[in-house]
Amino acid sequence: MKTENDRRDFLKKCGLSTVPFFLPPIGLHTMPLAETTKKTPVNFIYDGLALSPDQYLNKLQEISKTSPIEADFYGNGGATKLLEEKFATLTGKEKAIYLPTGTMANQLAMKLLNKNNTKVLVPENSHIFRDEADAAQSVHNKRLIPVGKDKAYFDRSDLENTVNYINENEVFKSGLGTVTIENPVRRANGTFVPIQAIQEIADFCKQNGYKLHLDGARIHIAAAYSNISVAEYASHFDTVYISLYKYLNAAGGAILCGETTLIDQIAHQIKIYGGTIYQSWYNSSMAAHYLDGINTRWNQVVRTATQFISELNEIPGVRIESLKNGTNIYNLTLTKEISLKKLATFLYNEHNLWLGRADTNKVVKFTVNESLLTRDLKDIVAAWKIGIKQAHS
Ligand SMILES: Cc1ncc(COP(=O)(O)O)c(C=O)c1O
Repeated sequence: MKTENDRRDFLKKCGLSTVPFFLPPIGLHTMPLAETTKKTPVNFIYDGLALSPDQYLNKLQEISKTSPIEADFYGNGGATKLLEEKFATLTGKEKAIYLPTGTMANQLAMKLLNKNNTKVLVPENSHIFRDEADAAQSVHNKRLIPVGKDKAYFDRSDLENTVNYINENEVFKSGLGTVTIENPVRRANGTFVPIQAIQEIADFCKQNGYKLHLDGARIHIAAAYSNISVAEYASHFDTVYISLYKYLNAAGGAILCGETTLIDQIAHQIKIYGGTIYQSWYNSSMAAHYLDGINTRWNQVVRTATQFISELNEIPGVRIESLKNGTNIYNLTLTKEISLKKLATFLYNEHNLWLGRADTNKVVKFTVNESLLTRDLKDIVAAWKIGIKQAHS
């Protein structure tokens, strides 16, 4: 049985920017709240709303009342088809397909793009390299070669150096066919890769005949903070994967977009690896709902968060800083006379505001998301002010 420590370790190793202060033993939403707070939760921890099963079911009903959700059949038709069409339009790609996980989307994209080539160059700190259980090597016969160790992202010269090194030092040329980029970079606290770097890498790949895949699990958040549209990002890549549960609040699922000839091979591949699911409408309809209007809502989150953070920074003892190329994750530090535990306990118990734990440097990766828009900002700031007073030791 997993202990709380195991779970915390798992979350940390996954590169989750922060770990909930009140990590519940069974799942989220199982911690008893004081009777006084029936307010909707605002979390400073997750990518999205972290909907409870109850909230999820209610939301699906609400969606279906306005526009009845239609079931798909093994991924065909219904809400899943509608979602695929939306994503093809959004990314400017010919076609999109639903997959059960992002891991499968990344792996199948690399496999098909790379054809008979064996080598794929990937960011050293990426989900593909570190968190996909060596699937590329053990299942798909592709060898992943890391680029850009100890950097948030690699640039064209890092890529060229690695390619030159391989060409000069390997006797058997079994072929490099594909390069991948992750944007934003989860293990670099969600910072985005500058578009200039992406353009230069894409040019290099084109000149050399390499395919380029984007792990854009959280691409919407890069778009919101860099003012580069999802379509513009996507235009530099052959294939693009986007998560349905990071920012689109589905319970799981992924979308892969690209040329028809490649996307049309995916359904068969999903089946081979046992991922064909009878129905997926509960994920696709939720994701489609949150995809509509996402730019407007995130522009509002960015504005609200900017105001919120500047007000919190006026409270003595509180410091919240943005990161270079940062998105929605900030560094929160408290002076030593303020107890983070007392503050987090107060905010959670009295106001249903969720704060994460500090890392070993006593920094909390303070994350904003759409939940910030569900409550009155004045009340949230007021709660923090009282919380900080009470948290003085
Ligand atoms: C950057 C990135 N890529 C891919 C994935 C894989 O997504 P899934 O959990 O759907 O396999 C994740 C999930 O954490 C991720 O953060």
